[in-house]
Amino acid sequence: MLSCKNISKHFLLGNSLKSVKVLKDVSLNIDAGQITALKGPSGSGKSTLLNLISGLEEPSYGEIYLNKTCLNKLSINELSSFRNNNIGIIFQFFNLINDLSILENISLPLLLRGVTKKTAEQNARVLIDNIGLLDRIDYKTNLLSGGECQRVAIARALITEPKIILADEPTGNLDAKNTLNVMKLLISNCRMNNTSLLMVTHDESLISEFDKVLMLDSGKIV
Ligand SMILES: Nc1ncnc2c1ncn2[C@@H]1O[C@H](COP(=O)(O)OP(=O)(O)OP(=O)(O)O)[C@@H](O)[C@H]1O
Ligand SMILES: [Mg+2]
Repeated sequence: MLSCKNISKHFLLGNSLKSVKVLKDVSLNIDAGQITALKGPSGSGKSTLLNLISGLEEPSYGEIYLNKTCLNKLSINELSSFRNNNIGIIFQFFNLINDLSILENISLPLLLRGVTKKTAEQNARVLIDNIGLLDRIDYKTNLLSGGECQRVAIARALITEPKIILADEPTGNLDAKNTLNVMKLLISNCRMNNTSLLMVTHDESLISEFDKVLMLDSGKIV
């Protein structure tokens, strides 16, 4: 389903000719519906790898395929529509739009896709029920707790029924109880929809729920 073939990422340092090699010849495969954890020390390249897979950055070498599509051959416009149709992204700091309500935040990806407001909001309501926030559906998201924000971000990633969800330390900012709830919610929804999940996590308590654990060290899969 997802296939990274020999990808490397180098960053130029400031104006100098020196570059840092952040990812070194990384190859990996994730099957449809596979729930994968990505672990590794700080600075090992986990976020960089997720940014490449989501198409937010380009690899220096190598190619990334999602099913038969090579992300690195798409134009910027093709890439953003491909992302909207296939990839869900969840960040550590939620990246919700604070001026919008829960309902509006979760409906937005479908509106961007051209779905009518009525249908988008109907679908969003089902997910808002699933994340346990129906009683706060019209709250602006800046009034919510961290755990609640992350539940909203999960619903926003799920609403487009992506083939894969990329989550970069989605519980990094939450306490132990919310970490468990958020991870369970995310994993069970991915299982239900046969959505693949690639999640950066340092949390060991639910590691047995994952099908596979990948470890990055100094830019290499070990
Ligand atoms: N735009 C950039 N320019 C130069 N160096 C960068 C850039 N982005 C990331 N790096 C470097 O790449 C390395 C890997 O960063 P990355 O954010 O992928 O690590 P990480 O594994 O996600 O770490 P953490 O667990 O702390 O989030 C770091 O040393 C970082 O300084
Ligand atoms: Mg990171």
